[in-house]
Amino acid sequence: MKPRNSLFLGLCTLLLTSSGMWSCIGGSNNSGKAAPNLNAQLRQLIREHGLTGDPAKGRLLPSINDPLAQLGMKLFFTKGLGGNMDAACVSCHHPVFGGSDGLSLPIGVDAVDPDLIGPGRLHQAGAHGFDGGPTVPRNSPATFNVALWDSSLFWDSRVESLGKSAGFNGGDGYGIRTPDTPFGEADLMAGTNLAAAQSRFPVTSPEEMRAFTFEAGNDNTAVRDHLVARLGDFGIGAGELPGNTWLNEFQTAFSSSAGAEELITFERVVEAIGAYERSQTFVDNPWKDFVEGDQNAISRSAKRGAILFFKPVEDGGAGCVQCHSGDFFTDEQHYNIAVPQVGRGKGDGGTGTDDFGRFRETGQSEDMYAFRTPSLLNLAVSGPYGHSGAYTSLEAMVRHHLDVETAIANYDTSQLDPTVQTGDWQVNSQAALNDLLQKRVLGIQTVMNCVLNEQEFQDLMAFLDALNDPCVLDRQCLDPWIPDGSVSDPDGQRLNGKDQFGQPL
Ligand code: HEC
Ligand code: HEC
Repeated sequence: MKPRNSLFLGLCTLLLTSSGMWSCIGGSNNSGKAAPNLNAQLRQLIREHGLTGDPAKGRLLPSINDPLAQLGMKLFFTKGLGGNMDAACVSCHHPVFGGSDGLSLPIGVDAVDPDLIGPGRLHQAGAHGFDGGPTVPRNSPATFNVALWDSSLFWDSRVESLGKSAGFNGGDGYGIRTPDTPFGEADLMAGTNLAAAQSRFPVTSPEEMRAFTFEAGNDNTAVRDHLVARLGDFGIGAGELPGNTWLNEFQTAFSSSAGAEELITFERVVEAIGAYERSQTFVDNPWKDFVEGDQNAISRSAKRGAILFFKPVEDGGAGCVQCHSGDFFTDEQHYNIAVPQVGRGKGDGGTGTDDFGRFRETGQSEDMYAFRTPSLLNLAVSGPYGHSGAYTSLEAMVRHHLDVETAIANYDTSQLDPTVQTGDWQVNSQAALNDLLQKRVLGIQTVMNCVLNEQEFQDLMAFLDALNDPCVLDRQCLDPWIPDGSVSDPDGQRLNGKDQFGQPL
């Protein structure tokens, strides 16, 4: 039998490290050697991984011009859904940030300037829970391409399809579990897709939208009932948005002449918001063109990077595809890769500022510190990266994967906005790293150390760059998803986002 090493293409030499892991030491002069066969090699890998290039293939997705998506956009942008009318969905998910907010950690209610989105958004001194830093413990994930998740939403997948039939986005008859139901049990109010199900929760979170005084002490149902009464101008919400025209908007979107109490329900609110979010599909990137046959759609460097991405570590690659698999570049599973834990945390651990991730939902030790594998589309606009936004540069986020121990030892908190809470980051991150090292010994999947030379690293970055849809970098192209003066503002509460210099987003 041939020794294992001779099978490898000479791209790297394998070392069995003390922790029992294969470690890849990249060979320096091979990127050039492989060049003549680049296309053939890559096409072979694409076939092996069954890629089509188009993660939206076969999905029935709404257009932003659909009346329902239009209503959803207006709801997404209104502070009227915030308990104290000072936060909207868009506060943390603006299209110019790829459906995120450009911050490591978000601030929802009680911002100094509610309409300022992105860097410079600050929590009001003296407001509930003020500590100078962000109030929300996890990085805001992109709403762009949210329709492409089949299994779950949130970093810990606490909104979860119980059926998981590929391509159906939660609507496969088994239902969707949400934070309103025990683990494993369907929430009968979840609606027909994950995006709608998820939209039921930001309005109930005091830090995100609800605020601390609105329906204080009452349950999620009371919050939602009050909000729809406000939009519909009836009952407990009558007069809170005087003269609003939401009833007309709902009548148009749902082709109905019913009255407000019948028509404006929270189920319809989230159906519309879900339609808007599901219209945010941005997958037309150079990589897709390449997979679909255009040999020149991506650079040679990106092709070499793609090969590294798809090849296993024991085969001279970087092994990224092990978790970032498929056309959407995620297996929708959870792993502990020990991204530094900064921010307020979720109340876990001895510090109280730790975040146990998926373990919080399942209670299984293999899920300790595990977070859902993110997609890798449109990373150019969706940073900072990781569940805590600990990495403000994509390069540092990728380097973290290649050598977690060194990345944690050298983690530089000065990359963060100075307001981000970092007091406990070392204790918390060391605990996650210890757990990761333990998982390696137990054979539980996590990242493997892999040394790439500078050229290989740049190649990998060039590949990630080929996963950006040019539309997400083009403000004009995003126009249809950002309401301007020509789009009716039903309650005068539209959040017209601006940056820290006062410029409209
Ligand atoms: C204060 C900031 C903030 C506001 C306001 C906010 N979100 Fe989020 N959103 C987040 C954060 C943070 C997460 C991730 C939380 C987690 O995983 O625990 C998230 C997660 C999501 C996700 C899941 C994405 C994924 O890939 O899993 C969707 C979809 C989403 N929000 C939509 C909305 C909608 C719709 C609204 C309005 C009803 C809204 N958000 C309001 C911060 C915010
Ligand atoms: C063992 C599974 C696994 C492997 C292998 C892996 N990743 Fe990840 N990746 C993850 C998980 C899980 C996260 C999120 C972790 C967190 O935030 O705590 C992540 C996060 C990321 C992010 C941040 C995305 C965002 O939106 O915040 C990037 C970029 C990334 N990975 C790229 C790569 C690259 C490039 C490789 C190959 C060198 C790779 N990953 C290999 C599991 C993996």
